[in-house]
Amino acid sequence: MTTKELDFIKPFEGDFNLHNYDKVRGNFSWEEVRQEFSWYETGQVNMAYECIDRHVSEGYGDKIALHYINEEEEQIFTFKEIKDKSDHLATVLKKYGVKKGDIVFIFLPKNPEIYIAMIAAIKLGAIAGPLFEAFMEDAVKDRISDCEGRFLITDSELVKRVPKQQLPSLEKVFITEGPEKCEENEISLVEVLAETPSENNSIEWVDLEARLNIHYTSGSTGKPKGIVHAHRAMIQQYQTGKWVLDLKEDDVYWCTAHPGWVTGTVYGIFAPWLNRATIVVNGGRFNADSWYSTIEKTGVTVWYSAPTAFRMLKAEGNEVLKKYNLRSLRHILSVGEPLNPEVIVWGMDALGKRIHDTWWMTETGAQLIVNLPSEIIKPGSMGRPIPGIEVAVLDDDGNSLPNGEVGHLGIKASWPSIMREVWKNEEKYHSYFLNGWYISGDLAILDKDGYVFFQGRSDDMINSSGERIGPFEVESKLIEHEAVAEAGVIGKPDTLRGEIVKAFIVLKKGYRPSADLLENIRVFVKQHLAAHAAPREIEVLDELPKTKISGKILRRELKARELQKQ
Ligand code: PRX
Repeated sequence: MTTKELDFIKPFEGDFNLHNYDKVRGNFSWEEVRQEFSWYETGQVNMAYECIDRHVSEGYGDKIALHYINEEEEQIFTFKEIKDKSDHLATVLKKYGVKKGDIVFIFLPKNPEIYIAMIAAIKLGAIAGPLFEAFMEDAVKDRISDCEGRFLITDSELVKRVPKQQLPSLEKVFITEGPEKCEENEISLVEVLAETPSENNSIEWVDLEARLNIHYTSGSTGKPKGIVHAHRAMIQQYQTGKWVLDLKEDDVYWCTAHPGWVTGTVYGIFAPWLNRATIVVNGGRFNADSWYSTIEKTGVTVWYSAPTAFRMLKAEGNEVLKKYNLRSLRHILSVGEPLNPEVIVWGMDALGKRIHDTWWMTETGAQLIVNLPSEIIKPGSMGRPIPGIEVAVLDDDGNSLPNGEVGHLGIKASWPSIMREVWKNEEKYHSYFLNGWYISGDLAILDKDGYVFFQGRSDDMINSSGERIGPFEVESKLIEHEAVAEAGVIGKPDTLRGEIVKAFIVLKKGYRPSADLLENIRVFVKQHLAAHAAPREIEVLDELPKTKISGKILRRELKARELQKQ
């Protein structure tokens, strides 16, 4: 199959949870979904209860909730085991002062502990703040200090990247596996769990508006902002798990994202567990053998990943693919960056499956625009809005544009999973809305059938491998380097990663450009901020283009020049 042959791809036969899009869309109301939750009857709300404890109460305690796999080991946890372990951890957190409304940051690698810690914090009505495992000191510091975090769960390796002296608000640091010696304000969880009997039921009831989790996310200006979600998000997260992931009783589901990214929390934990699916967690690093063998060994049926990962698998070739039996797979989805038609063609040829693109954002809390398994896919399109969601392409004043014209992708406010607030930044929160529309910052085209085609961003945000990177954060770090006077950072188009981070810098007097110096600057960003934010390319200029009046660096001009070179 070639991309030219692809006007659209028909759905395969199947018994899909949402089998008639137009009909369901015509009559749908979110009110119907509320009835699926135990709080509809009891009035007692808690996301962790609906994800875990409820299934145990309803007789599914022995069902596998989590299948963990890495190069050396496999571990299996039933819903009952996750319930018990999260109750026990919640008991300890409570003993050390965690209560409703507190933020508990969780800085752990992708292993079972991060999933248990998220559920434990939420059981207490606390706000779970997962941090991406590759964050370095400054990224950790900026996030914890922004909301004056008092509690952190981490391990003895990652704690080395927590600059405690610069985080006076941090009262208690819980370490998952016993460090030799705990420092002041560190608590060894192994020890205190051993000496603290579990309160078997640790759930604190909250209301639907109570804060649930916080994810920091980048825009084009300023430091990352804390996007806070409420327990009500479960309504849409459950329903999209059903419709879009098409989860059923026997599914084994693998979302490849770390919970530090919103996909890893919402579709790595909440949506599948609300639907009582078994989740797979791969703790190893990315490589084709490890990924395909994870699918084969755990029997993954539904797989949610990202275009860069699919492109990397495609680049590894079909020889490695042939070594594995991937017949368990029945549904594949993608998110985070444009899914190019070549990848869809690879999916059809190599895996014999359609890859279903989905669109959403940290701020939207759940999928909004999707390709459903029962509907036609138009390669290059992100699909159509789910029932209950209205989208439009708007001009700068918030008026709808005709089909086929490029404009701002807007979503009619509101919907169940929309962010509750931007942490301590009301102005920023309100800046997302215009004329009753949520303005995504993405540019798009709508076609006559309601399919949405992504056309880029209206701001300078960078999307590299599906990870959202704010140029400001990278520029701020670059100018802390002793040799850098000024910096402007852009996303440069890249066939594998979508975009790469490219920095233009002006050196301070006395410094001369050399390969060693540029590498030193790159490593400086990598070691202090995060590997994914470190510029893959650095170019030295004599001066940067700036606005005449305010002297602001013109990233757009840097980008335009870069694009001209290609
Ligand atoms: O630009 C869009 C891009 O990722 C942004 C949201 O990033 P984040 O908040 O990190 O959430 C990522 C996953 C939920 C969007 O504004 N994006 C997300 N999905 C797609 C996409 N771009 C193109 N196609 C998509 N399917």
